[in-house]
Amino acid sequence: MDDEPDLLDLLEEVVSSFMPDAQILTATRVQEAKQVIQSTKVDLIVADQNLPDGKGHEIFQLIQEKNLKTRFVLCSSDQVHDIPELSSAKIFGSIVKPNILDSLDAILEKFRAELRLEAGAIADRDSIDFVPVRIRGLVKTQPLPCDIYVRLSDSKFVKVFNANSAFSAKDLDKYLSKSVESLYVVKENRRDYLKCLTGSVIASLSSKESSEAEISQAMKDSFAIASDSFKAIGFSEDTQQIAKAYSEAAANLVNANPRLSDLLEKIKSDPEDYLGSHSMLLSLVSCALVRCMPWASETIYKKLSLASFLHDITLPNSATAQVVSLKEAEGKFSKEEIELIRNHPLEGAALVRQITEIPPDVDNIIIQHHEHGDGTGFPNQINSQRISPLSAIFIIAHDFCFAYLTKKQNISLGAFLAINESKYNSGSFKQVLKDMQANLYQIQ
Ligand SMILES: [Fe+2]
Ligand SMILES: [Fe+2]
Repeated sequence: MDDEPDLLDLLEEVVSSFMPDAQILTATRVQEAKQVIQSTKVDLIVADQNLPDGKGHEIFQLIQEKNLKTRFVLCSSDQVHDIPELSSAKIFGSIVKPNILDSLDAILEKFRAELRLEAGAIADRDSIDFVPVRIRGLVKTQPLPCDIYVRLSDSKFVKVFNANSAFSAKDLDKYLSKSVESLYVVKENRRDYLKCLTGSVIASLSSKESSEAEISQAMKDSFAIASDSFKAIGFSEDTQQIAKAYSEAAANLVNANPRLSDLLEKIKSDPEDYLGSHSMLLSLVSCALVRCMPWASETIYKKLSLASFLHDITLPNSATAQVVSLKEAEGKFSKEEIELIRNHPLEGAALVRQITEIPPDVDNIIIQHHEHGDGTGFPNQINSQRISPLSAIFIIAHDFCFAYLTKKQNISLGAFLAINESKYNSGSFKQVLKDMQANLYQIQ
């Protein structure tokens, strides 16, 4: 729909060359287009915004009111975010004039892929790109923001849930009982899916009604979402929002449970999910340890929990997160994996610097989290004189979490500090250890 006949001709030509079997109808007025979409099944409409008898967004409103299946594409010199009626709406696509051809190709490709999916339940990976999504995330995205598929083979996928339907806890159990950990979405829908999941997990982290077990579970879920999202689309604004909600949740849990042993009993950690559990636990333990320092504050809690959330987020799996020294990693991991392990403190620090309004020092904590007091750590082999007191607390908490999650029996903080007294007896470690041991009765 456009009031310029030349443009209509161009659109018609492009669509017919892309989809030779398509039936193309044109309209130069809003009223005309409204009549067409109500009397004929129209799969997709490309609509101009400013026409002599009305606005293109009226077509979108009609589609919604009448619950029509027509996909709406805006083709205008106005941007979607400048049109209040469309700015927060989920439209199929938008084309900014005059660069019509650039966007139209991608929109028609997406349209053709959807039509193929509708035509047959089984889709072929050669024609459509699918990406995995964790099955545990699906219960949090209600209703489902897009169609969900199961993989039949390397190249065959079948749709098992429609967009806007529900994925229940019963569905989750059904798939988990068959050891299915991931389902799939069409790649173009991944961003929408992650956005929906982000909103849901931030709500769980911030909920005043949630128990410690629920919040700790939401913290592990947050880590999984941020890690998936980071691998898929890089460090997004959504991940930053999750990081902030995560650090507030950690500070709230520690404030409400001053004794670490009480808190550890209430939360849910899972050695099988080492990366997620270890990051969650680390934020709580490091905040609990710093409570007894004379310089403790809410800002310090925030720094430690943000560092906990992001320090290992660039690592590919739990095995790489359990490496204590690079020497130990030789032989166990490939050269590429060892490089990833060596560089992850620097990469995590670089990520944290991208977050707006971040307190200072968080990047430094991340860079130093694998350094050892005796100078044998990585990446910079600095010794305890050069490790900052805040990093020293983080390293002690990191060591404690490793012991807590990997040892069969639970270890108390007091016993852990006593066993490791000689390791933490120099430089910055010495004073923080002294403060922890002097206040152990309060924090343990
Ligand atoms: Fe770690
Ligand atoms: Fe690490």
